[in-house]
Amino acid sequence: MHSPITKYVPWALSALLLAAGVLRADDKKLDPETQARVDRFEKGPASIDVSAYPAPIKANYEVFREKCALCHKLSRPINSDYALPDEWSRYVKRMMFKPGSNISTGAGKKIYTFLVYDSAVRKKAMVDEKLAKLAADVRAAEEAKIKEILADPGKK
Ligand code: HEC
Repeated sequence: MHSPITKYVPWALSALLLAAGVLRADDKKLDPETQARVDRFEKGPASIDVSAYPAPIKANYEVFREKCALCHKLSRPINSDYALPDEWSRYVKRMMFKPGSNISTGAGKKIYTFLVYDSAVRKKAMVDEKLAKLAADVRAAEEAKIKEILADPGKK
């Protein structure tokens, strides 16, 4: 005789497989240009050495690792061309709006803070290059956002 729990296991499994299939299908519909870009991003490492980062940023890294590898490899954001606060704000929000992403506003803020901090340290050359191309007022606003996080990485 089947217990009620074992009766539901196959249903739960098919629901999971279906969900995984839907998520994969979402990524498969990418236009060729986007596909080429994300393939390029995913070629790099899938983790970051955060051993020298401050404790709150290390904690945020764990949120990033948990939330941002659900639909694609973590190497996609890690090796992306995005580095400025406005870029991270835009892409974190874009990912939060994807069906099934399950990222709360609080988690989104932590991931944003992590990505801005990490870019300022690990992608410093890219950040400087991007800042140099901005109009003075936009540059000042971006620099202020970076400075705030570097000065107080634990601030919400
Ligand atoms: C629900 C599925 C899902 C989750 C969760 C998710 N992504 Fe994505 N991500 C996608 C899809 C689909 C794409 C394909 C391009 C697009 O739609 O922007 C993508 C693309 C990307 C890109 C490349 C965008 C481009 O066009 O160059 C980056 C960077 C990225 N994701 C970062 C993240 C980060 C950071 C997180 C965690 C906050 C995250 N993703 C979580 C589905 C997801």
